[in-house]
Amino acid sequence: MSWQADVLTLFPEMFPGPLGLSLAGKALEEGRWSVAAHDIRAQAKDRHRTVDDTPFGGGAGMVLRADVVDAAIGAVLAHGPARPVIYLTPRGRLLDQALVRSLAAGPGCILLCGRYEGVDQRVIEARGMMEVSIGDYVLSGGEIAALTLLDACVRLLPGVMGAADSAAEESHGIEGLLEYPHYTRPAEWSGRAVPEVLLSGHHAAIAAWRRAESEKITKERRPDLWARHETQRGEPGAIAGHPAAA
Ligand code: 6GU
Repeated sequence: MSWQADVLTLFPEMFPGPLGLSLAGKALEEGRWSVAAHDIRAQAKDRHRTVDDTPFGGGAGMVLRADVVDAAIGAVLAHGPARPVIYLTPRGRLLDQALVRSLAAGPGCILLCGRYEGVDQRVIEARGMMEVSIGDYVLSGGEIAALTLLDACVRLLPGVMGAADSAAEESHGIEGLLEYPHYTRPAEWSGRAVPEVLLSGHHAAIAAWRRAESEKITKERRPDLWARHETQRGEPGAIAGHPAAA
C-alpha cells in the first residue's frame, strides 16, 4: 500500500506536472506513491456544470459550493483509504517540515485546491479539513501549493532518496539549521579560492567548520529558526553527537 494523494481541482491537467519528472517522477513510476487529480466540476449538479456561486453578504468573487466540494471529497474517500483532507489556502497554517514529516509518515492525503475567493466555510468544518498555506504571499490558486506540499512529502518516502540525502534531512530537519555553503572544482575560480579547511582532509575540522557556518547563516538569515533551534537542543529528540552547548 503506497502513499496515495488525491487532488481536487478545477485544473486536473496541472498534475502530476513537475512531479512526473526527476526524483518524484521516478518514484511515481516505481509505484512508491501515486497521485490522481479529480475535476471538481465532475461533481456539479446542474447541466451548466456550476461549481461556484456569489458570496452571501455580498462582495467580489465567487465561492466554491459546499455540496459540490463535499461530493468530490466523498467520491475519493469511497475509492481509497481515510486520509487527512487539506485545503490549500493562504489563510491556513504555514506548511513546515514537521507537518511534511507527519504527512509523509501516514497513508497520504486529499488536497483541495481553491480558486475564486474561497470555499464555503461549512464544508471545511463538516469534513474537518486542515487549512494549509505555503507562505506569506498570494498565489492564483492552490494547485502550485499542492505540488509544493506533495514534492516535500514524496522526497521523504522510503526509497525515494539515497542514503546520503536521508542523512542530510536528519541533521537539517531535526536540528532546524540552514545548510552550510558547498564548493566543488576548480579549487580556484575567477580569483576566488575554496575555504582552506575543505581541502585539508581533516574530517573533524571540516565538520566543525560546516557546523559553524550553518549556525552563522541561520542566525543571520532566520533568527526565528535560530531561536527555535536554541530552545530545542538538549531536549528529548535532539540528535546524539550534537549535544547542547558544553
Ligand atoms: Cl495554499 N494558496 C494560495 N492561493 N496562495 C497561497 C497559498 C495557498 N500559500 C501561499 N499562498
